[in-house]
Amino acid sequence: MGTDMSDQRTATLTVGNTRVELPIYSPTIGPDVIDIRKLYAEADVFTFDPSFTSTASCDSAITYIDGDKGELYYRGYPIEQLAEQSHHLEVCYLLLYGELPNAAQMRDFENRVTRHTMLHEQIQYFFRGFRRDAHPMATMVGVVGALSAFYHDSLDNNDPWQREVAAIRMIAKLPTIAAWAYKYSIGQPFIYPKNSLSYSENFLHMCFAVPAEDYTPNPVLAKALDRIMMLHADHEQNASTSTVRLAGSSGANPFACIAAGIACLWGPAHGGANQACLEMLREIGTVDRIPEYIRRAKDKDDPFRLMGFGHRVYKNFDPRAQVMKQSADEVLGLLGIENNPTLRVAKELERIALEDEYFISKKLYPNVDFYSGIILDAMGFPTSMFTPIFAISRTVGWISQWREMVVDKDQRIGRPRQRYIGPTRRDYTPVESR
Ligand code: CMC
Repeated sequence: MGTDMSDQRTATLTVGNTRVELPIYSPTIGPDVIDIRKLYAEADVFTFDPSFTSTASCDSAITYIDGDKGELYYRGYPIEQLAEQSHHLEVCYLLLYGELPNAAQMRDFENRVTRHTMLHEQIQYFFRGFRRDAHPMATMVGVVGALSAFYHDSLDNNDPWQREVAAIRMIAKLPTIAAWAYKYSIGQPFIYPKNSLSYSENFLHMCFAVPAEDYTPNPVLAKALDRIMMLHADHEQNASTSTVRLAGSSGANPFACIAAGIACLWGPAHGGANQACLEMLREIGTVDRIPEYIRRAKDKDDPFRLMGFGHRVYKNFDPRAQVMKQSADEVLGLLGIENNPTLRVAKELERIALEDEYFISKKLYPNVDFYSGIILDAMGFPTSMFTPIFAISRTVGWISQWREMVVDKDQRIGRPRQRYIGPTRRDYTPVESR
């Protein structure tokens, strides 16, 4: 690395006889980045970084992670402080607009979100086209994508007002969509949103109320759910967020972009891990079976992984997992089910894994999904609803990142290159001579 005449720090790359000076930019915190955009034009080479382990794809001012220190900030605020003192809609405001709201701004935002919680009545028929045994994530990908067929007045990415309405609509409607996907899967009537309730209370209401009875959401569970939402609200350029940005880079409408994000989130290496983790803990069943599963996780010939363990960025601890573990203890304690066998297996599995050389050397720690499923299970959600709840929570992150991208002057259509390893040029042979 060096300094050129204009004080612009540069990195020098020599490829054969070509020397290229690449600018280095500094962030407000975190590692510097080397701008390689002119590399191909000047040196006729591409960089090669499958899975983007060393590649920054954009400038962003939303979320910061220090994976070595186990730090996560939303707009500069540590996640532990927000989880303790804030609430999900306030975090939504913070992520969307960059600052914490004052009381009047918060009231106005809450008002705007609650005025958009209903779905166009015709969307009910869309739900009814799915099989009852469809996974709620499958239904969500379809219904969220279909929003672009219903809300034509918020599809224009170039119009700030339409972008704003689309953002509010998605934050407001995702809980309704997820709850209805659940209701449909169990054959119960759809429950309409109730705007006198808080964001998380309303979701519990739409999932667990039935028309035949009164339902009052349990405030302890509503608070715990709200905290789960805050902890999942954004995580910088993870797989689903990058999917949303890439889809958005072509100019696709915001509903289509978020549907793409939901599809990506579903995978077990990403948001699908919370469902997979609880199913794994149940399969282990008792603490005496843990060593068998640890052995399998370490076996190179066995595809089994400890779900809820490991992270691409966190190499010390996942700060969200620490809050989640504490929350699991609190919620199960308050519900009087602290002797829950799944929680016992989880704690013992964590203890054993954290003392094991394999996990220590590979820096594998419990992630956010390790304890979240235990809380959601205690609330009465089936495992198939865990990832939809992650999707509701992450919606604000996806939208904030999409909005940031749309107004970024450096933004062009995302288009990675490749190292081609297929056949070289060859001539077509007619079928009779093959
Ligand atoms: N159990 C056993 N071994 C593991 C695990 C695990 N959970 N995670 C990683 N490893 C091993 C892996 O086999 C590899 O070993 P080696 O170097 O000998 O080949 C090494 O650790 C590095 O793993 P990697 O797959 O190269 O790491 P990655 O950064 O590409 O993957 C991960 C990160 C989260 C996909 C991965 O750790 C994993 O599959 N974990 C289980 C699924 C999970 O809990 N996902 C939720 C992530 S947090 C929430 C979210 O992002 O949505």
